[in-house]
Amino acid sequence: MTTSDFRSDTVTAPSEAMRAAMASAEVGDDVFGDDPSVNAFERELASAFGTEAALFLPSGTMANICAIRAHTRPGDEIIVEEQSHIFRNEQAASAWICGVQAAPLPSDRGRLDPELVAATFRDEDIHHPRTTLVAVENTHNYQGGAVVPLDRIEALAEVAHARGAALHIDGARLWNASVASGTPLREYGRVADSIMVAFSKGLGCPAGSGLVGSAEVIARARRTRKGLGGGMRQVGVLTEPMRLALRDGIERLAEDHRNARTLAEGLNALAGVTVDLDAVETNIVFVRPPGDAASWPGFVEGLGERGVRCCFLGVREGVRFVTHLDVGADDVARAIAAARELVEGGGGAGS
Ligand SMILES: Cc1ncc(COP(=O)(O)O)c(C=O)c1O
Repeated sequence: MTTSDFRSDTVTAPSEAMRAAMASAEVGDDVFGDDPSVNAFERELASAFGTEAALFLPSGTMANICAIRAHTRPGDEIIVEEQSHIFRNEQAASAWICGVQAAPLPSDRGRLDPELVAATFRDEDIHHPRTTLVAVENTHNYQGGAVVPLDRIEALAEVAHARGAALHIDGARLWNASVASGTPLREYGRVADSIMVAFSKGLGCPAGSGLVGSAEVIARARRTRKGLGGGMRQVGVLTEPMRLALRDGIERLAEDHRNARTLAEGLNALAGVTVDLDAVETNIVFVRPPGDAASWPGFVEGLGERGVRCCFLGVREGVRFVTHLDVGADDVARAIAAARELVEGGGGAGS
């Protein structure tokens, strides 16, 4: 049985063009700075964001860690959103690798309140850690792909900069935020002190993330990357597809957003299924199946048996569907039909 896989936008397979670019990549030893493909990628990424420098990293998690390390010292505190990937999904790496403490704050769908952030900054006091970084996730995964508007990021950066702290964007899906809000990448580059962007999600590359920022921040991040074992060699085979994606892949994300909306509306129309349609802004759809939360994993299983894959994230989020390069309008129709059969066909969620 073929499957329609909505579990994540990380499940995409590289296109023929990406595979061809990998096969013909001109390479060298990147730890020596000798890989022309990596060097071109880093130049082009920095230019896209209007920053002084950029760095290739094997993963988004490592990019976030390198950024946190670049802006902080052990014993500092960083302000993060309480459902953010940095706080929730990185094994507290900021604590045990960077030696910092995270102060998690609630938010309105990922949009941290600048006043609350300002109030969370520590006073200069011998007892206190120093607050040296504010991190914003955009789009916000566990807030259903919510876009954090540029003016909110600017307000948060102002608060951080007024206190001598930095602002980092975990932009694993910043491409989606840019397309959905019409905000040019350079605007984010102008406001933030560092930005992580992932190429292995909506852009469909097999691996790879980037970090952009000042030459100084990127030099520090490069050093940490090496210490973490992330200094790789002929890695131009990975950055060539990333260059293609940077050039050709971003505008296409609007299609994923349209598919997510169709999916959300179709599922929300089914008996007992709820989707907060206003909350569907990009390529992520949170669904509350019929019945109580204990039966929701059964809904996911029932869809799986019908060739439609999605994830149960938790009681707060419900079931997550993510649209991407490898699921089209026909997969969306299939998912809605499978869910209809499941909820209306007598078996019900949890069967
Ligand atoms: C918002 C966010 N940040 C960071 C990451 C980490 O990226 P990676 O899986 O490449 O380490 C993810 C991965 O899903 C993510 O969704």
